[in-house]
Amino acid sequence: MTTSLLEQLGALAGQAFGAIGLDPSFGRIVPSQRRELGQFQCNGALAAAKQAKRNPREIAEAVVAELEKTGLFRELSLAGPGFINLSLADDFLVGHFNDLADDPAFGCRAAHHPQKVILDYGGPNVAKAMHVGHLRATIIGESLRRLHVFLGDTTISDVHFGDWGLPMGLLIKEIEREKPELPYFDVDFTGPYPETSPVTVEELQVLYPAASARSKEDPAFLEAARQATFELQKGRPGYLTLWQHMRDISIAETKVDFNALGAHFTDWKGEADTNDHIPAMLARLEKDGLSEESDGAVVVQVAEESDKKEMPPLILQKSDGAVMYGTTDLATIELRAAEKPDSILYVVDARQSLHFEQVFRAARKCHSVDPACHLEHIGFGTVNGADGKPLKTRDGGVVRLRSLIDDAIAEARKVVAEAGMADRLEAGELNDIATKVGVAAIKFADLSNQRMSNYIFDLERFTKFEGRTGPYQMYAAVRIKSMLRKAADQGISEGPLHLNAEAERNLILALAALSEAVAAANAKHAPNILCDHVYSLTQEFNAFYHDCQVLGEADEVIRASRLRLCRITLCQIELLLNILGIDVPERM
Ligand code: ARG
Repeated sequence: MTTSLLEQLGALAGQAFGAIGLDPSFGRIVPSQRRELGQFQCNGALAAAKQAKRNPREIAEAVVAELEKTGLFRELSLAGPGFINLSLADDFLVGHFNDLADDPAFGCRAAHHPQKVILDYGGPNVAKAMHVGHLRATIIGESLRRLHVFLGDTTISDVHFGDWGLPMGLLIKEIEREKPELPYFDVDFTGPYPETSPVTVEELQVLYPAASARSKEDPAFLEAARQATFELQKGRPGYLTLWQHMRDISIAETKVDFNALGAHFTDWKGEADTNDHIPAMLARLEKDGLSEESDGAVVVQVAEESDKKEMPPLILQKSDGAVMYGTTDLATIELRAAEKPDSILYVVDARQSLHFEQVFRAARKCHSVDPACHLEHIGFGTVNGADGKPLKTRDGGVVRLRSLIDDAIAEARKVVAEAGMADRLEAGELNDIATKVGVAAIKFADLSNQRMSNYIFDLERFTKFEGRTGPYQMYAAVRIKSMLRKAADQGISEGPLHLNAEAERNLILALAALSEAVAAANAKHAPNILCDHVYSLTQEFNAFYHDCQVLGEADEVIRASRLRLCRITLCQIELLLNILGIDVPERM
């Protein structure tokens, strides 16, 4: 078991504080802001001095004296009123590196307690093409899933299809308007119904906006759609069959987009999967006095005295008997509870935060799930256009997810050609690389933002082969791969680590910080921390590669040691990119 370098150092410094009669918690160590002064720093002497009413510099000197006794430091110095700068002895660093390199998870699992996690993300809707709003839900959700898998957690990923509300009734009635002769609408029809869908996905995508517009102008149509929704939910066979067709073709369509983005779902469930459970749930809540009637509707009050903002009740059933988004979400929690998850995470647009707050409160109040199960809405901001407003097509429409991916791949094709790859690679491989570069560009740009902030979609910036972009991180990994291949061709193999240059030390420190980055990313559900970390790794690697010869190094022992450093760096970069959902080609 490898504990993180910061923890090990913190423990050492803590002992030093303890040895001079002060609280060990003052020994907290952080990476140095100024590498030229030391690799790490400890600022605890100042707080300790305040508490003990002693002179901070004297405390820092005493702590340094204690630390010197360990023999584990190359350099210990004081700065200012009592800051301690620390640099590790090379033996310590090498020892730590060797422990890390022996562990396939690089120490990331050491302090993690495996959990069972249900992730709800993606969230497409029947008959509506996936759009830019589903991009972040998919990319962030998938990355969190991969992070949990890497940490050794058991995960269930559920796409939670939007397939059960009024939109279904609207579609049924709209199809009936266009094709009244179909058997689905005839109550007396006894089957069998046709095997295939009477409409295509493309047609559905036209029918839905038409129906939605009609329902706004024509109250009778809206009423009929409501009635159809209700009857569908009660199981009217013709409607149910038609609904199943619509759902099947819509799922098949979304799978194309999910595959393009490398998202993996274990469960393809949706709102409709709760239908059989809802009557029992409503009956229980009524019997236990947890729900109440309000203006003909059934609701659960979720307001609390401490609320600063208005907290409307969660509506479970409207006066017409139809169930709502909140009803299916509450029922979904009750069904998921059977899996005994430690947590259920919802990666959904931040604009749905009120909805989730209502649902979670209702779930607690109604004992829908074990109190120990953690429920969390992992929100995110919007993807904006150059004008800073949510991204729209040129004529103001919603941007399809498919066209976004296609545009990114087209842009990547240009960049890849400009980089001269078109001359070196044959068409099939070039195409594969352009696809990987395009997807990496979108993903890295999305994930590297703080989740809750909005960002501007700028493909030209995202696809650059330099700086903080997906394509650049990918390229850095490919370069190391090709160097390792060359080494293999030349019969050079790696050997034990020997430190010679400052750039090697810095690279090792970056490699050793992986477990901290992973732990922080997990605690905050923040893939941007992983993006920052992979960027710092590629930067440190560049500095190392600039300063140190690898294959060209004449000393065999140093060359073998450097090759080992390169291989471990590649492992970590690939590991991080994999969590971010970015595939690295063999060469470019
Ligand atoms: N289908 C919803 C939408 O497009 C997202 C579903 C999110 N998950 C959930 N359990 N409510 O807004």
